Amino acid sequence: MTENTRREFIKNTAVASAAFLTPKLAAGVIGANDRIRIGMIGVGSRGQDLLKEIVAVPNVEVVAMADVYTRRFDEVKRVVPNIQTFGDHRRLLEMKDIDGVIVASPLHIHAKHFVDAIAAGKDLYAEKTMTWSIPEAEKCLNAARNSDRVVQIGLQHESGGPFADAKQWLGQGIVGKVTLVDSWMSRNTPHGQGQWVRQPAADCTAANVNWQAFLNGRPDKGFDAYRFMNWRLYWMFSGGNVTENMIHQIAWIMSALDLPLPTAANMSGGIFSEKDGREVPDTITVTLEFPTETVVTWQSTFSNSRYGLGQKILGSDGTIEYIAGATDMVSGESEEQIHYYPEKVNRPSGEAITGSNRGVNHMANWIDCMRTRKTPNAPVELGYRSAVAAHMANISYRQRRRITLEEAKAFQPEF
Ligand SMILES: NC(=O)c1ccc[n+]([C@@H]2O[C@H](COP(=O)([O-])OP(=O)(O)OC[C@H]3O[C@@H](n4cnc5c(N)ncnc54)[C@H](O)[C@@H]3O)[C@@H](O)[C@H]2O)c1
Repeated sequence: MTENTRREFIKNTAVASAAFLTPKLAAGVIGANDRIRIGMIGVGSRGQDLLKEIVAVPNVEVVAMADVYTRRFDEVKRVVPNIQTFGDHRRLLEMKDIDGVIVASPLHIHAKHFVDAIAAGKDLYAEKTMTWSIPEAEKCLNAARNSDRVVQIGLQHESGGPFADAKQWLGQGIVGKVTLVDSWMSRNTPHGQGQWVRQPAADCTAANVNWQAFLNGRPDKGFDAYRFMNWRLYWMFSGGNVTENMIHQIAWIMSALDLPLPTAANMSGGIFSEKDGREVPDTITVTLEFPTETVVTWQSTFSNSRYGLGQKILGSDGTIEYIAGATDMVSGESEEQIHYYPEKVNRPSGEAITGSNRGVNHMANWIDCMRTRKTPNAPVELGYRSAVAAHMANISYRQRRRITLEEAKAFQPEF
C-alpha cells in the first residue's frame, strides 16, 4: 500500500466521532515499508533524547508535538523545523494520520496521556514509571489489554545485550534456584548541589507555561517555576528515586526471573544528602519479597558514586553479576559488563562466562512491533508489575512499616 493510499484508507476508516480510529481497523494498516508518523507528548529533557532516537529510525517521521511550555516548541523545531505544535495533547491525538505517540511527560501525568493515547487508537511508547500510583497502573493495564495497541514502556534495558545474556543463562538452568538478588544504584553531586535540581530558565513564567495542565488536578498554590522544573523532588508529582531509577533495575530483575508481583515491601531511608526542600528520600534501602521464595534488595545513595549501578543474581548453581554506570568502578574496566560465575559446589566443572549479546535499540524495537504487531520488549504487563513494586516500596517508606500487596492495592494515594 503506498503512503497516499494508506492515508486515504485511514481517513475512510475513521469513525465519525473525530479522531477515533477503531483499533481493529488501524491494526495492520502499516505496511513493512510505509512511513510511520509519530507525535510526541511532553518533550523536555528525556523527550528530546527520545526525539534524537526516533529521528534516527528509518522510515519514521515526527510530525507533531504537544507540550505545556512554549520553550519546548523552539527546542524541538531545531531538530524538526516543520513540526506541528500543540499546547494541549488532545489536539495532537485528534490528528488521524498519527500512527504512534511517545509520552515523556512528568510521572503524575503519565496515566492521563497513556489512556487518552490508547483511546485515540494510537500505538504508544510510554516513559517509565508507567504511572504515579497503583490504581492508575491498573487503569492503564486494562486500557491497553482492551485494545490491540502496541505499547512499549520506556524501560530500555529490556532491549539491552546484558538482559539477553541474563535471560540466556537463566534459561540454560546454570544459575539454579535464585533466593536473593542484590541491587544498587549510587550517584554523587558537588556539595550544595542536590541531585536532579535544575534552575528554571528566565522564560519559565506563568505566561509561557500552562500551569493548570501541568498540575493535573494537584492543589494550586500559584505558579511555581522551581516546582515545575523540579517536579521529581515532590511526592504529588513524583515517586522519587524509586520511580526514577529503581524501576529500571526492578523491571530488569522481574522480567529476567519471571517474577510475579511482590507479596510485601519494606523501605527505609531519608533525606540525608542535601536538605534542599525536597520531599523524596535520597538514601534508600528497599526489600521486596516474592512468592517464588526470592528476596530482592535495592539500595541507593546520592552521596557516593563509587559502585555505580549493579545487580547480582545469586543462585544455587551460579551468579549473574551486572555492573554499569560508574566511571570509577572497582574493576576499572568497561562501563557496562555482565558475567556469569559458577557455584563450584553445585557445578564443579562450570566455567565463568562474559556476556556477548548485543541487544537492540528500544525505540527501533517499538517501531518494528508497530509494523509486525508483535509484543515489544518492555510490554505493558512489565510496566504494570514494576510500577506496583515501586509504589509498594514508597508506600512502605511513607507509612514507616512493611506493606503487603493487598494493603498496597487498597491504598488510596493523596496529593
Ligand atoms: N527511560 C529513561 O532512561 C528516562 C530518563 C530520564 C527521564 N525519564 C522519564 O521521562 C519523563 C520526563 O522526564 P524529564 O526529565 O524529561 O522531565 P522534564 O520536566 O524535563 O520534561 C517533561 C516535559 O513535559 C512537559 N509537560 C508537563 N506537563 C505536561 C502536560 N500536561 N502535557 C504535555 N506536556 C507536559 C513539560 O513542559 C516538559 O517539557 C519522566 O517520566 C521520567 O521518569 C526516563
